[in-house]
Amino acid sequence: LLHVSSVKTEAEAEAEAVGGRALSRDDFPPGFIFGAGSSAYQVEGAAAEDGRKPSIWDPFTHAGKSFDGSNGDIAADQYHKYKEDVKLMHEIGLDAYRFSIAWPRLIPDGRGAVNPKGLEYYNNLIDELLSYGIQPHVTIYHFDLPLILYEEYGGILSPRFIEDFTAYADVCFREFGDRVKHWVTVNEPNIEPIGGYDSGILPPERCSEPFGSHCTVGNSTTEPYIVAHHLLLAHASAVSLYREKYQAKQGGSIGITLLGWWYEPYSQSSDDKAAAKRMVDFHIGWLMDPLVYGDYPAVMRENVGSRLPSFSKEESKRLRGSFDFIGFNHYIVFYVQADLSTLNLKERDYYADAAVKLSLLNGNSVKKQDILRMKKTPEMASTPWALRKMLEHLKVNYRNPPVVIHENGAGSLVDPKTIANEKPDYFRVEFLQDYLESVLLSIRNGSNTQGYFIWSLLDVFEFQFGCAVRFGLVGVDLNNENTTRYPRYSSHWYSNFLRGSGLRR
Ligand code: NOJ
Repeated sequence: LLHVSSVKTEAEAEAEAVGGRALSRDDFPPGFIFGAGSSAYQVEGAAAEDGRKPSIWDPFTHAGKSFDGSNGDIAADQYHKYKEDVKLMHEIGLDAYRFSIAWPRLIPDGRGAVNPKGLEYYNNLIDELLSYGIQPHVTIYHFDLPLILYEEYGGILSPRFIEDFTAYADVCFREFGDRVKHWVTVNEPNIEPIGGYDSGILPPERCSEPFGSHCTVGNSTTEPYIVAHHLLLAHASAVSLYREKYQAKQGGSIGITLLGWWYEPYSQSSDDKAAAKRMVDFHIGWLMDPLVYGDYPAVMRENVGSRLPSFSKEESKRLRGSFDFIGFNHYIVFYVQADLSTLNLKERDYYADAAVKLSLLNGNSVKKQDILRMKKTPEMASTPWALRKMLEHLKVNYRNPPVVIHENGAGSLVDPKTIANEKPDYFRVEFLQDYLESVLLSIRNGSNTQGYFIWSLLDVFEFQFGCAVRFGLVGVDLNNENTTRYPRYSSHWYSNFLRGSGLRR
């Protein structure tokens, strides 16, 4: 491991190499929150312990369907190692830790009885964080839907989900809200519908032609829209409940966290430019328009027609302004190409009714590749200007909402066997510095961004990529009996950054 004193010199050398001097937190406005994050299924492990029941992810991973066939039974074992992890957070100097509550641990049957062991675990974790002065930022739902709700009534496909989610959120506010002051209702309600109900590559693996002969159930022309609709309504319902029953007494804030992929035209042709704009509306506007204006973007209605559900007047009112902040998870940019000739607009929505082809930016060369190609090349290019564009888009089109970057980070393919002897992760530091600079420039340009969380604190079970892709400031022997932690170079760099010892750019 590197010592902090030697890190300083290296950080300076690094900073010179990237053409400037290192930033520190002192460059950001006072009160700006810096943290790192995780989610329950990705770190906790203890999958069958103390009363936790399966979520839709357990049968999926147990069937060997993640990239490397691994599952989250042990993951980073944070369930047993939370004290060690909180100590690590303290050593790094985090202001805040973003984690999620496992619905199938807290209310194992999805609704009804609360699991005392689940309560105990989250109480302990929250108290441990607070004893070090680290703020808990809590996501209520991060992909791990109790399996039983899906089996019983179709889970998020049914409006019954809204009621069960609200009751679950009520338990969270009631039990933890005296100490938790930052709530996120739902993580990435714009990716779950795509992965789980359109491409079908994520549980519950629903889709239909032309995406998946692998799906035996589903209808990708309608279900993704229904799922996003119910997630939005569940969010709005939980926020109303929080505002009516808890907020004044507990004094916290509540929001929702969206995936913020950015889209650029593939060429400067007017068709490609229009297609990129459609993608932004289909991906970000899909949620931001209802949250800010109470209805879906007009371009979605034009393309999707009656397959896009409608909000009643009351629902629309409830949604409008149903946030104190919006979280954004930002990683990559896609290049969008209009390709009207090869698309059947009736069948292929989203990325598709929007009449686009996507290609992932890889380094500086644009490659035409399908979105699923990410599965084969999950290394991340640094394109910090895309985050700036997204923040500018939010500022201009959505009345400059308070934004928290809830995830940003660099993933890389790692051989789990070599985790103890990795080379320093300079690439990650360079990536993070680029994006932090981008956030800073956006703030100077008027963006109301109020916090930044690195994904991830630890190596985590990376859902469909299993243990093959690592994002951690701290490496972990995942799914191993010992789950040893190995702080990476980037954790020392973040520590320096947070202690304000970096040099000004
Ligand atoms: C999005 C998700 O919220 C998180 O669970 C995932 O690990 C990261 N992005 C990285 O892919």
